[in-house]
Amino acid sequence: MSDTTEKPTERPYILHMLTATPQMSPFDVNMAADAGYQIIVPYCSVEASMVANLTQDAIFSRGPKGVSRTGIFIGGRDVLLAADMLETARKAMVPPFEVSVFADPSGSYTTAAALVALVERHLAKAYGMELGGKRVLILGGTGAVGRVAAAMAASLGADVSIASHSGEARAVRVSDDINQRFGIVTKGVGTTTPAELRSALGEAEIVLATAVAGVQVVSTADLAHAAHLLIAADVNAVPPEGIAGVNVMNDGKPIEGVPTAGGAIGIGALAIGNVKYQVEHRLFIQMRTGGKPVYLGFPQAFDEARAVAAGLG
Ligand SMILES: NC(=O)c1ccc[n+]([C@@H]2O[C@H](COP(=O)([O-])OP(=O)(O)OC[C@H]3O[C@@H](n4cnc5c(N)ncnc54)[C@H](OP(=O)(O)O)[C@@H]3O)[C@@H](O)[C@H]2O)c1
Repeated sequence: MSDTTEKPTERPYILHMLTATPQMSPFDVNMAADAGYQIIVPYCSVEASMVANLTQDAIFSRGPKGVSRTGIFIGGRDVLLAADMLETARKAMVPPFEVSVFADPSGSYTTAAALVALVERHLAKAYGMELGGKRVLILGGTGAVGRVAAAMAASLGADVSIASHSGEARAVRVSDDINQRFGIVTKGVGTTTPAELRSALGEAEIVLATAVAGVQVVSTADLAHAAHLLIAADVNAVPPEGIAGVNVMNDGKPIEGVPTAGGAIGIGALAIGNVKYQVEHRLFIQMRTGGKPVYLGFPQAFDEARAVAAGLG
């Protein structure tokens, strides 16, 4: 006679991945699988109003043991919408039916966290300085990564200018949005013309390039106007270099042709990507193995990036 009694098995790790866009990012699916999630389900074109119901649909079916093996990821392109969705999911939990939630729209939270943490580390190492009080110019600052980097740097007390090559009106609109949402102070500047760009570069101590991939936003000739530059960091890994002279591999290498007394150093996209990758991996692991539900937004991404950066020595 065959034995029809079911043997107890470990429940699989399930990740429900929500995005407001038509498709989930393959990058994040890969990262989730490599961090140990066994069943990964994308939910696309999710509206904010659907998040509470989806969350409650995910938490009740597996019992207290199962919820610790269930997680929710929030992707998309809109950094503020994802922050709102994270909050909505958190509020929809019914303890003890509560699962971990991690938001990283377009990789922006983990990428900006890696960028700002590496700048902070190099500023301390090369100059013995802190980011607080530094004049930070973010070129391409109206994008997903730029907005989050602006919020992080401003939260640390930096004097942040968000630049737009499309004009001052767009930069100011984005700056106002994030100031209101996060209770911070940033300003918007237009860098449409070479003269506007060079004037903004002339003021900056830290330049972050977070523009769309494959575009050079600072040429060698522009760099000659960066009279106070200490650090230039570029997240774009697709040629040409987003900031001329800052190679993707650079991690604190001096930049040629900068007029600052004492020179300036560069941080490239692969150095930043290496930290970003570790941060995202660690946050997925934290969700799965922390023993209690966690809610991971960009403050947590930044804490993790600082820990990774500190480990680099
Ligand atoms: N290193 C890593 O690990 C990593 C990870 C993720 C993403 N990334 C990179 O991070 C960068 C930013 O990503 P994102 O998703 O935030 O980008 P995004 O939102 O697509 O674009 C950022 C901004 O670039 C500006 N822009 C568009 N076309 C431009 C042009 N022709 N010249 C100058 N500026 C232009 C736009 O601002 P304005 O029109 O207002 O100027 C836009 O808001 C990309 O290069 C991406 O590849 C790197």
